[in-house]
Amino acid sequence: MTADTKEPKNRYQTSPRAADYTIDQAWESYSAEEHDRWDRLFRRQIEVTKGRACTDVLQAMAELELSPSGIPDMGKLTDRLEAITGWRIVPVAELVPDEIFFDHLANRRFPAGAFIRPESEFDYLKEPDIFHDIFGHVPMLANPVFADFMEAYGKGGQRAMQLGQLHNLARLYWYTVEFGLIREAGGLRIYGAGILSSPNETVFALEDDSPNRIGFDLARIMRTKYIIDDFQQTYFVIDSFEALLEACYKDFGSVYGDVKGKTDLEAHEIEQGDEVITRGTLDYFHKRKAVR
Ligand SMILES: [Fe+2]
Repeated sequence: MTADTKEPKNRYQTSPRAADYTIDQAWESYSAEEHDRWDRLFRRQIEVTKGRACTDVLQAMAELELSPSGIPDMGKLTDRLEAITGWRIVPVAELVPDEIFFDHLANRRFPAGAFIRPESEFDYLKEPDIFHDIFGHVPMLANPVFADFMEAYGKGGQRAMQLGQLHNLARLYWYTVEFGLIREAGGLRIYGAGILSSPNETVFALEDDSPNRIGFDLARIMRTKYIIDDFQQTYFVIDSFEALLEACYKDFGSVYGDVKGKTDLEAHEIEQGDEVITRGTLDYFHKRKAVR
């Protein structure tokens, strides 16, 4: 979670907060309705991600005992995750400031929203809740290579803030951690949390003709704008988590230098040199534009 917006209100916003913005999850305070809401979200999403989520996500779900029955207790879930990759999940009330977020990641702590979305936002929510953060993000943190990538990203965020390049780095997070696809033997699969926690985008990202799907390219991604309130117009595809880590486990100084001299790309654009896996029709987006 990064701090982009202040909405919505939830009961944890009045919880006592430590300097690093963590709070007490107070697991016993969830109502029966809230546990039931988690269960319904979970059942729906576990069905739709079968055969669409990457193998590592599905394996980690089982390994972490994620959790068809009630909102997970982050402390207990952390015990299982920490034994695998050393990552911890820490509860927060809302999006946290960038420097706090990066400090958590750099120290292998993932800040997860403690609140669950209200029933009125069952299908679409404006701010990441516990379902997005736990179902979407935590399985990948059990992958040792991705776990290292996330730590490196946190350290990269701290440097990017000093260099004034945060907008470029944020695009890397967006197009990988949130909306990334990976090639597997059976075809493209999903590892991005923003896709994995959305039933409609889980299908759209893999099966719709509308979006572009382009091979991962770090500098290219850093120049690409993104859409925050609709499906993505372009998804970037990695070959492996090892390749992602290798591309990103370095100081980005020279990459920022390259990016600075070039114009940004719109989310739907394809440019010469792209490894185009599927060129999107953009039909979905044209129709949406017509409706608006
Ligand atoms: Fe997220």
